[in-house]
Amino acid sequence: MSDIQKVSEKVAKLYDTYPFPPDPILDEAPPGYNWRWNWLTAYNFCTGMKPQKRDIRILDAGCGSGVGTEYLVHLNPEAYVVGIDLSAGTLKVAKERCQRSGANRVEFHQLSLFDVEQLPGEFDLINCVGVLHHTDDPIRGIQALANKLAPGGLLHIFVYGELGRWEIQLMQRAIALLQGDKRGDYEDGVKVGRQIFASLPENNRLLKREKERWSLENHRDENFADMYVHPQEINYNIDTLFELIDASGLEFIGFSNPEFWDLQKLLGSSPELIQRAEQLTERQRYRLIELLNPETSHYEFFLTRPPLTKANWSDSALLAAIPEISPCIDGFPSQTIFNYDYKIVNLSNAEFAFMQECDGTKTVDDILKTVEFSLDQLRHLQKQQLVMLTGTSR
Ligand SMILES: C[S@@+](CC[C@H](N)C(=O)[O-])C[C@H]1O[C@@H](n2cnc3c(N)ncnc32)[C@H](O)[C@@H]1O
Repeated sequence: MSDIQKVSEKVAKLYDTYPFPPDPILDEAPPGYNWRWNWLTAYNFCTGMKPQKRDIRILDAGCGSGVGTEYLVHLNPEAYVVGIDLSAGTLKVAKERCQRSGANRVEFHQLSLFDVEQLPGEFDLINCVGVLHHTDDPIRGIQALANKLAPGGLLHIFVYGELGRWEIQLMQRAIALLQGDKRGDYEDGVKVGRQIFASLPENNRLLKREKERWSLENHRDENFADMYVHPQEINYNIDTLFELIDASGLEFIGFSNPEFWDLQKLLGSSPELIQRAEQLTERQRYRLIELLNPETSHYEFFLTRPPLTKANWSDSALLAAIPEISPCIDGFPSQTIFNYDYKIVNLSNAEFAFMQECDGTKTVDDILKTVEFSLDQLRHLQKQQLVMLTGTSR
């Protein structure tokens, strides 16, 4: 048996015991949205315009208990979705979840992402969240996925970061030591882990971090096991992350949590330091950010297989474009809304008036005949992902 197969077997056993994520199964579509799973908003984020094609093929690689898969089906009404996972126990939950909520444009396969070439065709959107870092060979894994990505398609990845998971890694090793020969018995691992936390003194660093950051999710044994008794885990930093990305042969588009990667938030009060940082490469700047704010417990980002056309809206192209409200905002029409990240946004009177006219048929030029609004204000709305534009950007 190869190393990859040995690891896969252990990982499958963990998730057969503790299907993840353990979210409840509902008889209706799941509430709200995650913009990264909506093809329109993900594509708009990556290119600055709405995609022309909607009848796309989506792969959820390492779909787990199907929480993301179910969203992918409901948020993309013209898409066909394929979910794959190693663990039969987890797939059973995923199938039931989708069946119960009427997410029927989906098929599931018990298949490793290393064998993904067995699936026919290519995919326009591949979602691989929380999976590559649990494999024996993430580089081979990402290459296998890259080979199934259609030209101009998007690959969304989430992997662990070492800096923000320092205490978790210490706790994992402590549990493994105390488990000894019982390593691989995941229920025993959870028991030992919970006993350790119950015994540690109040001011202990591992316990404090668990309480401050993780305990809300970890009251479920599935989450606790996923975090502390995993048989296989690789944690990245910016340097090793970009080694993985470069090995994929794909192009890095950007992090899908861009607000974290904002140096202004850390050093904005010192123009001199910002100026120095401008001399760095993009990757060095990311490294600087994570060194100064070592909370990075994960990286989430989009890759593409070129060519992917990105919009560059000139004034004349903007005037001819058709704007519409993003499907991933909540509360509109109201001047106080939730944005794509569920953060509150207060729209100005002018923004509100403009957005109310965005019905998906009128051009910007049409709307500006009745609403006082500038093209720069529109660019700002678009940058905030509140509106999407269709047209020919030049
Ligand atoms: C932490 S869970 C993430 C589940 C889901 N993607 C999510 O974010 O909700 C990791 C999942 O990846 C699956 N997995 C791990 N290695 C895999 C591989 N080589 N091929 C396919 N699935 C794999 C596991 O069985 C598990 O269900």
